[in-house]
Amino acid sequence: MHPRWMGRCDACGAWNSVIEEIASAAPLGGRAYGGSGRGRAIDMSTLDNVNEPMPRRKTGIEEFDRVTGGGLVRGSAVLIGGDPGIGKSTFLLQVTARLGVGIRCAYITGEEAVGQIQMRARRLGVENVPVDVAAATNLADILATLDAPDGPDLVVIDSIQTIYIDALNSAPGTVAQVRASAQELIRLAKKRGFVLLIVGHVTKEGTIAGPRVLEHMVDTVLYFEGERGHQFRILRAVKNRFGATDEIGVFEMTDQGLSEVENPSALFLADRRSEVAGSAVFAGMEGTRPVLVEIQALVAASPLATPRRAVVGWDSGRLAMVLAVLEARCGLSFSGGEVYLNVAGGLRIGEPAADLAVSAALTSSLTGVPLPTDMVVFGEISLSGEVRSVGQSDARLKEAAKLGFRSALVPAGRKIAKKTRSELELKEAAELRDMVEFFERGSDMPIRMLGGS
Ligand code: TYD
Ligand code: MG
Repeated sequence: MHPRWMGRCDACGAWNSVIEEIASAAPLGGRAYGGSGRGRAIDMSTLDNVNEPMPRRKTGIEEFDRVTGGGLVRGSAVLIGGDPGIGKSTFLLQVTARLGVGIRCAYITGEEAVGQIQMRARRLGVENVPVDVAAATNLADILATLDAPDGPDLVVIDSIQTIYIDALNSAPGTVAQVRASAQELIRLAKKRGFVLLIVGHVTKEGTIAGPRVLEHMVDTVLYFEGERGHQFRILRAVKNRFGATDEIGVFEMTDQGLSEVENPSALFLADRRSEVAGSAVFAGMEGTRPVLVEIQALVAASPLATPRRAVVGWDSGRLAMVLAVLEARCGLSFSGGEVYLNVAGGLRIGEPAADLAVSAALTSSLTGVPLPTDMVVFGEISLSGEVRSVGQSDARLKEAAKLGFRSALVPAGRKIAKKTRSELELKEAAELRDMVEFFERGSDMPIRMLGGS
């Protein structure tokens, strides 16, 4: 509680992060605790009451069903977040159109006119599927419509930032409005047993008032990722009470909406040219699925005193660490050069297992020596320059073999199945130095003379 305007948060020290939120006298739909009356004893259950499997609704869009953990669970709330324009509305219309054939679906939009949704439906070729569409933003009206015995089985709210409660005197999209209206919708979803899909925009400046405040209220949080200008869209589960997190679904944008990509590795590697320096193929894992992706690095001489470092698709702090380890443990010099790193296809990699592939791409660009085109790389790097083993080596290698790769640069000392060994020639690296040596052999010059000042 602050008695006046605060420019700086006195808890964390961040500027402009304190948001005004007016406390309502009593929580919506309930009496403040501590009031009159005593509590009632609650019913306790046992842990083994699992005779009924959770009823799930599969959409038949396999990439989506996997991300949700096997289908949408009755009475659950799912947040679908992402930048404006990334394809949330289009995708959710596709989902409702798939399910609308069997169950009652309602699509409530606060951003577009009903006519626009109908036009989109026509473009997607689903205009004949029975889906109820409405344009509404007043929560009381929406609740009154949905709270009926013959109400819908699935409800889309697009987007939560447009919904408002009359009783609160703050604007739609503020933390108070977003939180309170989501709470009411979730309560009704549990009561009526419908699946609730909430759209939330993530904006660069507005992240606090955006879907972040909803993350702990909903059962499942899915985020759309993808670079503007790329045709791939990745739906990632960052929280799921009914399934594994870090699962991804890969889609491609088309004029008929998002279409599933069954073999993302083949797609991410499709545009790869042969034998170029600065490129390494990382054998990664996204949830339960192996995904091969190209990592591109460019080290270029710079006239600037502080050369630029830019990263797309990876963590810039992690890049700084990898560069520091390459300099300190392997004697390479990047300090005089600009360094650019790019994960091809618009994928965002979060795994530390990408360290070795990133180092290989960087060293390759620095030395001008390309990696063999049929080689995949994975392994984590420690500050001391050791290459650490990572989980699910077999799954990564199996995927590589399946896609026609013939060799792999991997952490040393890991047990690997015989069959995989017969399919791929394994080069083991115990230290980062071992990886650098690989390039030294391909280059005429001693490596430490290259690059930098
Ligand atoms: P939209 O679904 O409106 O994005 P959001 O709801 O996240 O703001 O999509 C943005 C634009 O992209 C829209 O003009 C339609 C277009 N689009 C396609 O042409 N093909 C596609 O597969 C998708 C997903 C979108
Ligand atoms: Mg939209």
